[in-house]
Amino acid sequence: MLNEILRRRTFAIISHPDAGKTTLTEKCLLYSGQIAEAGAVRGRKTTRAVTSDWMELEKERGISINSTALTFEYRKCLLNLLDTPGHQDFSEDTYRTLAAADSAVMVLDSANGVETQTRKLFKVCAARKIPVITFINKMDRLGKTPLDLLQEIQKELGITPIPLNWPIGLGDEFTGVYDRVTSNVLLFSPTVGGSLQVPTRVVPLDKVADFLPADLASRIVEEVELLEIAGEQFLQEKFLVGEHTPVFFGSAANNYGIEPFLNAFIDLAPTPGPRPGKNGLVPIDRPEFAGQVFKIQANLNLRHRDRVAFVRVCAGQFDSEQDLTVARTEERLRTKGSHRLFAQDREEVQSAYAGDVIGISFTKGVRLGDTLYCGEKVEFVGLPQFSPECFASVRCQDNARRKQLAEGLQQLADEGAVQLFRAPDNPQELILAAVGVLQFEVVKYRLSTEYGVQAEIVALEYKAGGWIGAPKSTLANVRLLPSTKIVYDIQNRPVILATDPFTIRYMRNKEASLKISPFSDHLFAPTD
Ligand code: G4P
Repeated sequence: MLNEILRRRTFAIISHPDAGKTTLTEKCLLYSGQIAEAGAVRGRKTTRAVTSDWMELEKERGISINSTALTFEYRKCLLNLLDTPGHQDFSEDTYRTLAAADSAVMVLDSANGVETQTRKLFKVCAARKIPVITFINKMDRLGKTPLDLLQEIQKELGITPIPLNWPIGLGDEFTGVYDRVTSNVLLFSPTVGGSLQVPTRVVPLDKVADFLPADLASRIVEEVELLEIAGEQFLQEKFLVGEHTPVFFGSAANNYGIEPFLNAFIDLAPTPGPRPGKNGLVPIDRPEFAGQVFKIQANLNLRHRDRVAFVRVCAGQFDSEQDLTVARTEERLRTKGSHRLFAQDREEVQSAYAGDVIGISFTKGVRLGDTLYCGEKVEFVGLPQFSPECFASVRCQDNARRKQLAEGLQQLADEGAVQLFRAPDNPQELILAAVGVLQFEVVKYRLSTEYGVQAEIVALEYKAGGWIGAPKSTLANVRLLPSTKIVYDIQNRPVILATDPFTIRYMRNKEASLKISPFSDHLFAPTD
């Protein structure tokens, strides 16, 4: 079992939209032999809407809403790539997916460097101490210089970038990379349309002049010399705690630099490690299975109310024959099969090991962040909860569908698609909270297609909130400001909403007895 676990690398790609995440993913599959020719993943991206109506929304908006988990083998290692949606309104989903990863690959566009979404996602990795490996893409375009890019990473993200390879030429001249570990130059030859693996010639640095134009050859020798003299040494232990990020250069579109990147990646990226449980670290080689639900998705088949829980196996070995228990309720989970996922295709999974991601079908009884286990009880600490900044009230005109509305919203809240609050004086008044407004559209769409409810979602003026730590009885003695409102979350905890974060801070100081802890303080805090 341990051998199986130690050959796993579970990671996510973080990037700003258009930096080349999809292209890099596809090229990783190409080099792993999972697909024979590039184009398959992109093909799926455009055809998969056919399989589900709900994906229509995704297609219409030209964005990727659903995270996908991909599994592929490379040089005896098993790589689990957790793909994450790029659109900023779905960053909450992305953040949770990162909680299931052991490392992250940060893809930068050489022309744009560190962009907004990269910065946000990097912050999550840094807060969770997820080691980050950098791939600077689109070196075939004349972008910023490698040195400028390295400086930008250092300055913007506060992490020390250590190039483990170095580009040979920029823009049209980009023909290879110098591998600092082996001191060899790897020269690539183009293939038509970048659909096949590129032929690579390995040349020692002192012979590079035989293969490159004289000025390019002397430039690369000089640059390498400078790197060796002035550059900091890469240290694996600093990488593992988020102080160093190894940097690789390439062009995913042309397959340049993919193979050196993958080879280094499997050596550098950490194997699954012990994860924090409520009673201390849970070792990966615990004999029985334990895993955590990091995403729940409505099943594509609308006739059956099935859901898929995406579970990160955190310890032991999963076996599809075993009975699973939900730690929160201590109830046995009635599952309807388990799958390994390849893009949108599913394949029955018989067994899986720590580091793997599996999809478990179920009807009810699972909430986001839940621990599933066999044998001795174990419970992992909750997933990070994010600070909602958009609030809306939700109603349905048709009184006869109220029950379905409540059921649908409860389900969507369990999935983490939105947060749901109830007003104490009027239980019919339901309030939704999300990180981005696009999530409300998804809710509206899903309520209509899955629950037959035509919901009216109206934006509210609230922009911030906080949990109230004091007992409910304290609330009666407090004078609230008109710009605030008290509501209850799905765990029946009192919450204060306000039209701006300042009011929350003001109330926290003025009414200390309420013990308000602002949502924003919980950005990376566990839900429990
Ligand atoms: P994303 O998932 O991060 O959003 O990015 P994606 O891979 O979809 O790439 C965004 C665009 O950048 C695509 O172009 C893609 O072909 C291009 N691209 C990716 N890698 C490279 C590279 O190494 N060099 C260059 N020059 N371009 C690259 P598009 O025009 O939006 O799509 P398409 O017409 O190529 O399919």
